[in-house]
Amino acid sequence: MDVLKAIRSRRSIRKYDNREVEEEKLVRVLESGRLSPSASNRQERRFVVIRDASTRKALCEAAGNQKFVAEAPVVIAACSIETEYIMFCGQRAYPIDTAIAVDHMTLQAAEEGLGTCWIGAFDERKVKNILNIPDGVRVVALLTLGYPSTIPLPTPRKSLDDLVMREKWRS
Ligand SMILES: Cc1cc2nc3c(=O)[nH]c(=O)nc-3n(C[C@H](O)[C@H](O)[C@H](O)COP(=O)(O)O)c2cc1C
Repeated sequence: MDVLKAIRSRRSIRKYDNREVEEEKLVRVLESGRLSPSASNRQERRFVVIRDASTRKALCEAAGNQKFVAEAPVVIAACSIETEYIMFCGQRAYPIDTAIAVDHMTLQAAEEGLGTCWIGAFDERKVKNILNIPDGVRVVALLTLGYPSTIPLPTPRKSLDDLVMREKWRS
């Protein structure tokens, strides 16, 4: 088990081969989302898997014409069916729960030799129309999935010193 290796190898992939993603790999990616935690274990996430080329083209347009959304052989729309639940800390749970599932999927995809890119820039109304998603369900993210044709260099990250404070907040 080497989770950090998958974390280190993951990149946002914006160039894809047209090779299909094997169903068993796709199922393992989805399984990682299924197994991910959610607040009070409510599991309100739902995933729409799109392989159809014309639907991917429509989603590409709904995502501001980010070309790779149509090029990736699979797009997953990560949704939440229950958006009202507020945790004791005052935060709404659904975007957090759905994001955790999507992040698990990106890491399992990396383990499978697949690339992903989280898409937050999309018109939710258009996406819901394209995918017949009912009122009351929110689309939190689109995720492209496929074999990378180009693997970019890692993007920079702040150092642990920049991020971590010990015991108390340090201004
Ligand atoms: C919430 C969220 C929304 C994002 N939306 C987009 C997007 O719409 N289009 C895109 O090309 N990348 C998008 N990204 C990818 C980020 O740009 C990328 O994760 C970041 O630059 C770090 O690069 P890396 O993923 O290769 O480490 C998004 C990432 C996150 C977490």
